[in-house]
Amino acid sequence: MELKHVLSADQFTRKDLDHIMSRSADMEDILNKGGSKLCNGSILGALFYEPSTRTRLSFETAMLRLGGNVVSETDVTFSSQTKGEVLEDTIRMVGGYADVIAIRTKTKGQAGIAAEYSPVPILNGGDGAGEHPTQSLLDLYTIIKHHKIGSEPLQVSFVGDLKYGRTVHSLSKVLRHYEGIELSFVAPEVIQMPEEYRKSGDKISYELTDEILQTADVIYDTRMQQERFEDQKMFRKVRDAFIFTPENVGLMKPAATLMHPLPRVNEIKQSVDTLSQAKYFEQAQNGVPVRMALIAEVLGK
Ligand code: CP
Repeated sequence: MELKHVLSADQFTRKDLDHIMSRSADMEDILNKGGSKLCNGSILGALFYEPSTRTRLSFETAMLRLGGNVVSETDVTFSSQTKGEVLEDTIRMVGGYADVIAIRTKTKGQAGIAAEYSPVPILNGGDGAGEHPTQSLLDLYTIIKHHKIGSEPLQVSFVGDLKYGRTVHSLSKVLRHYEGIELSFVAPEVIQMPEEYRKSGDKISYELTDEILQTADVIYDTRMQQERFEDQKMFRKVRDAFIFTPENVGLMKPAATLMHPLPRVNEIKQSVDTLSQAKYFEQAQNGVPVRMALIAEVLGK
């Protein structure tokens, strides 16, 4: 496959997804053997203008495990953007230093703007409340590890802040390439899945019912994105709408998976972490081989 930039889950065909999943599995083998020198001499520029732990560090780890190097800008207060530099200029410059750029921006659509001006591939690590396409690929990789996706019915329930949670926007698009997947969106009305990501046949619910817990094969929970709420009173009203505890996770099927892109705040109790359904730390680990695969692909390695 030819991959220039990774900007939106819209860009992937089913064939692309199959290829990336297979390449990610190869990268996991390489990781287990201690890494490789595939990207020796290449540099990743990491430009993160919103907080991140997993996305930035797993991109950096991926490049280092491939034998490359990393330059990072992680605090906008130390960036020349605080002196008034526009993103387009920053990207032109960093594209002259690095061979590939991973970027996280505060505003939806900015990764696309970066790609227009970049001389090197852009990997969207989250653009505001828009998309998080590389996260959706590691989410897919995690689901494939635990379920027979595409060959039998799979109930996937997205729970939490579906309006501002960009990971669910991208993952819902990716999952639509697979037969037999039924999506349900569980959120208070004010933070329900935006229309642009819905399709007829999707189920909408405002409550996390016992029936949803008992029938879901995958529950993908998300944090209430306080920083994106215009009305903080509304945030306080919905922030504890859904809390996963050992009691309600105990209603899930033993083979079901509870996922979360992390960070979590209060929506999954730490006492859930040891239950068999809890897969969110494994999910975060999967970010390294999947991002190794993406870096190798965009660099043509
Ligand atoms: N899942 C995710 O995007 O985590 P970070 O915000 O820590 O990068």
